[in-house]
Amino acid sequence: MSPSVPARPANSAAPSSSSTAVDTTTVRLENVTKSYGSGDTTVHALAGVNLTVEAGSYSAIMGASGSGKSTAMNVIGCLDRPTSGRYYLDGQDVATLDDDALARIRNRNLGFVFQQFHLLPQLTAVENVILPMLYAGLEKQERRDRAVEALTKVGLADRLNNKPNQLSGGQQQRVAIARAIVNRPVLLLADEPTGALDSQTTKEVLNIFDDLHRSGMTIVVVTHEDDVGARAEQIIWFRDGKVIEG
Ligand SMILES: Nc1ncnc2c1ncn2[C@@H]1O[C@H](COP(=O)(O)OP(=O)(O)OP(=O)(O)O)[C@@H](O)[C@H]1O
Ligand SMILES: [Mg+2]
Repeated sequence: MSPSVPARPANSAAPSSSSTAVDTTTVRLENVTKSYGSGDTTVHALAGVNLTVEAGSYSAIMGASGSGKSTAMNVIGCLDRPTSGRYYLDGQDVATLDDDALARIRNRNLGFVFQQFHLLPQLTAVENVILPMLYAGLEKQERRDRAVEALTKVGLADRLNNKPNQLSGGQQQRVAIARAIVNRPVLLLADEPTGALDSQTTKEVLNIFDDLHRSGMTIVVVTHEDDVGARAEQIIWFRDGKVIEG
């Protein structure tokens, strides 16, 4: 056997940035536009957005009111389709999928946290967290186990059977976070998650996001609040429907 560097096997590609490389990008928006209305009254809510979110990263989207943050979030969250441009979620081209396919992706691949929690009032904490797993078709015992695990992770192991009106705002938001992560999404999206919380509770929720980030979760949060944005690794600034470069 020769001591020289072995030749690369015929079927292995040279290291390069070509498509053979493992793609670690969770979100890739390419020249995405979103327009509302037509003719003279057309609003260009997104006017050619390029952005990437790497797997495992923690990003904040910030910018003035009307700059397109929620519109971008709705596209990233597969709640809405771009008017034009490309969107790859975890490597899959999702810009032109139909409603059923988008709903499946939202359930399986994405977790959502909103300003107003959006818990079902007649269900307990654990039942609220079980809900997305019903749609995902998991077995009963596994649903229960995973719901308890997720609620434990957000510090609510002792509140499993409380209904939303028996929980504080911060606790309700933590139930919502447990619900968002229970299907093990590739991306956690939060639109003003602390907008309805006081400063102490805001810190608690941000600490949970930090924990999730440390355990590998990819997070994108839309916020007006500097102290929320400061927790993220990168801030993506929007202005007039575009991402401000550099
Ligand atoms: N459904 C809609 N129909 C028409 N125009 C819309 C619609 N949704 C958003 N817009 C417009 O698109 C632009 C961007 O709105 P968007 O809600 O994305 O802003 P935002 O950055 O989230 O603002 P805020 O900080 O106030 O939440 C605004 O000019 C808004 O009026
Ligand atoms: Mg908004």
